[in-house]
Amino acid sequence: MLLEASGVNVVYQPGRGERIWAVRDVDLSLREGEFVGIVGESGCGKSTLGFALTQMLRPPAVLDSGMIAFRGTDIASLKGDKLRRQRRRGFALVLQSGMNALNPVRSIERHIGDLLKAHPLPGEHWSGEAIRSRGRELMGMVELDASVLSRFPHELSGGMRQRAAIALALALEPELIVFDEPTTALDVIVQAALMDMIKGLQRSRGFTAVLISHDMSVVLDATDRTIVMYAGRIVEDRRSVDMVPDRIHHPYTEALFGCYADPRTDEVVLLDIPGTPPDLSLADHDCSFAPRCTSAIDICFRERPRLCDVGGGRVACHLYSEARREVS
Ligand SMILES: Nc1ncnc2c1ncn2[C@@H]1O[C@H](COP(=O)(O)OP(=O)(O)OP(=O)(O)O)[C@@H](O)[C@H]1O
Ligand SMILES: [Mg+2]
Repeated sequence: MLLEASGVNVVYQPGRGERIWAVRDVDLSLREGEFVGIVGESGCGKSTLGFALTQMLRPPAVLDSGMIAFRGTDIASLKGDKLRRQRRRGFALVLQSGMNALNPVRSIERHIGDLLKAHPLPGEHWSGEAIRSRGRELMGMVELDASVLSRFPHELSGGMRQRAAIALALALEPELIVFDEPTTALDVIVQAALMDMIKGLQRSRGFTAVLISHDMSVVLDATDRTIVMYAGRIVEDRRSVDMVPDRIHHPYTEALFGCYADPRTDEVVLLDIPGTPPDLSLADHDCSFAPRCTSAIDICFRERPRLCDVGGGRVACHLYSEARREVS
């Protein structure tokens, strides 16, 4: 297993005793070379989980409890040089807007050079020529012209900036890359081209990828496995090919199917899921989705459903457990 997270709880402590439980009891394993998607409504904890998996949590977020093991090493407890060394061939994060990762007063080549020099392998020395050569190689991987190396972030289009950010993520050859809404800020055509590139890179380079998106169609199309989050918890985790409307699902996943834009139609009608997600400063002793669920039964309001194994995946729903009890 490349990464194993167990019992992960992440809390935001923005002050005045406020505690927001953004990620709750998450157990998650990633196999080498797997492409996993994380979907869910805004605020359900996708980015926070992505930050936790790549050791990028920053105050006011803290890992309250849980373990995140990368190739057997607990990365949650690594700091300073040890964390930097682990990052050298470990994990990278690509954010929504490439601009965030890029410093406006540095050229793309300078970004690449700084990154390579900050994480040298033992005995490695990066000369100007070696950086340029690696830069050209990286530009080729993300299908950008080598002339982009001398440009500054503001001289690039949104799509090009995001490609440059992906080139930076690839620079240290990480085994895991988390893409957090990598295409959200871009127009549809640029989005599609960028997703195709990410899929191609993942396949050809073989890294493990996590794609965070609120768009179910993007995730189902790109990934091997889809994880659905609701109110900080994983509610469903299945092979993407098994995620079709008539197979057993969490009712929340069903509702997300209604929300996703079918790329084959020009007119996109997004169905809202009625109601709002719960207040994450409160504990959940029952199913958080029950107040919005059209299929909820008594137990849903009394007990929190456990994430149970189903053929080739996991689902946290009393309806599924009840149905199974009736069959047996
Ligand atoms: N800086 C912060 N301070 C306090 N609470 C925060 C902060 N950032 C996030 N949260 C809380 O954590 C929850 C999860 O946020 P997160 O950004 O992980 O959600 P998300 O699923 O990535 O949403 P989106 O789709 O909008 O990106 C939010 O509902 C919010 O209440
Ligand atoms: Mg987010």
